[in-house]
Amino acid sequence: MSLDITSLVKKYDTPLYLYDFNNITKRYEELKDAFSGKKSLVAYAVKSNSNLAVIRHLANLGAGADCVSIGEVRRALKAGVKKYHIIFSGVGKRDSEIREALKEDILLINLESEAEMKRVEMIAAELGKEARISIRVNPNVDPKTHPYISTGLHENKFGVSIDTAKRMYIYAKKSDHLNPVGIHFHIGSQLTELSPITEACGIVADLVRSLDAIGIEIKFFDIGGGLGVIYDDEKTIVPADYAKAIISQIKGLDITIVSEPGRYMMANSGIFLTSVLYEKQNGDKRFVIVDGAMNDLLRPSLYNAYHKIEAVQKEGQKTPADVVGPVCESGDFLGKNVELPPLDHHDILVVHSAGAYGFTMSSNYNTRGRAAEVAILDGKDYLIRARETFEDQVRLEESCDTSWQV
Ligand code: LLP
Repeated sequence: MSLDITSLVKKYDTPLYLYDFNNITKRYEELKDAFSGKKSLVAYAVKSNSNLAVIRHLANLGAGADCVSIGEVRRALKAGVKKYHIIFSGVGKRDSEIREALKEDILLINLESEAEMKRVEMIAAELGKEARISIRVNPNVDPKTHPYISTGLHENKFGVSIDTAKRMYIYAKKSDHLNPVGIHFHIGSQLTELSPITEACGIVADLVRSLDAIGIEIKFFDIGGGLGVIYDDEKTIVPADYAKAIISQIKGLDITIVSEPGRYMMANSGIFLTSVLYEKQNGDKRFVIVDGAMNDLLRPSLYNAYHKIEAVQKEGQKTPADVVGPVCESGDFLGKNVELPPLDHHDILVVHSAGAYGFTMSSNYNTRGRAAEVAILDGKDYLIRARETFEDQVRLEESCDTSWQV
């Protein structure tokens, strides 16, 4: 996006998240088009960026929502996602969450264990309902991504083995309160190679065929999320190839392909803006200290993730610097050895590819208020989340029992 960053920062201050809604549209349409000719649903992974405006924008385009808590389900409903486009996944769900999801009559509750299936069955029986379910299968495929975001191996906590899944489907089919209509897998995030996706699809499609042979008809083939994006110079998968690989594995099946992209929609639709506070030199080491920190954007600290960082309208000889925040942790950095020109107080740095798992993973650590969020649509800017104040942060403490105080 070509933006007047300086005036946006004057208007909204920093730290600030900025999202390009036109790019979100483009990304959604690219993916939807890739599956054209097939029944498909793009269920946006709300966890990647759960701002109501983002979800609403995608809902208006026709997207569904992949949610991992009842909070996310509520966000999706509030943002106008159709009930029959909402999926509730996650490795552990409280009874109250299951109950609410059943009452809302969303498309699917995704099960991750036999124990969970029994809970859902019991609660559905209490409510006199039949729960539409899918089962998350763990195909034991190495996704070749960062171990923290790899989820499709047996050593990961997610899903159930093929054999367990089969047993669960047979049980569910006989139950008066379960309706097994979906199958789900998600082998990992930031996938940049097609072969693990093809392999996992093949394994799961074979299970669908064997279920069909015993009279269990699966209608939704949920391939999860995971489509990688470019942060630096990595090669990624283009949506057309992604779709082709999936479609090649489900030949002969009359099934709706559900995808759950998060990062693909949002990572490169967002940037994070932070202001320089000062520079300092510790021995040979140059530090640029900024007003954004690990509490705003955790990915560099948590995964050693790379985000390209650039100075706005600043010339001069570039030298390497660590870009660090004010949080009291050595791990508080946004970038290491970033080539930057000499910087002054109030200069602005752009941290790229920050639209996914940026704001949603932010916290109040060090009693820092969370950043504001702004959307850019057709060249106009809209505040979509106000900057969090100190009062916002202490409200829930101040409203508590204070009778212990003398
Ligand atoms: N569906 C399921 C079941 C998932 O677990 C995830 C992500 C997605 C969809 C969306 O995946 P995506 O399309 O965004 O790759 N915080 C990490 C990413 C964690 C992803 C967890 N699951 C990061 O910042 O890289």
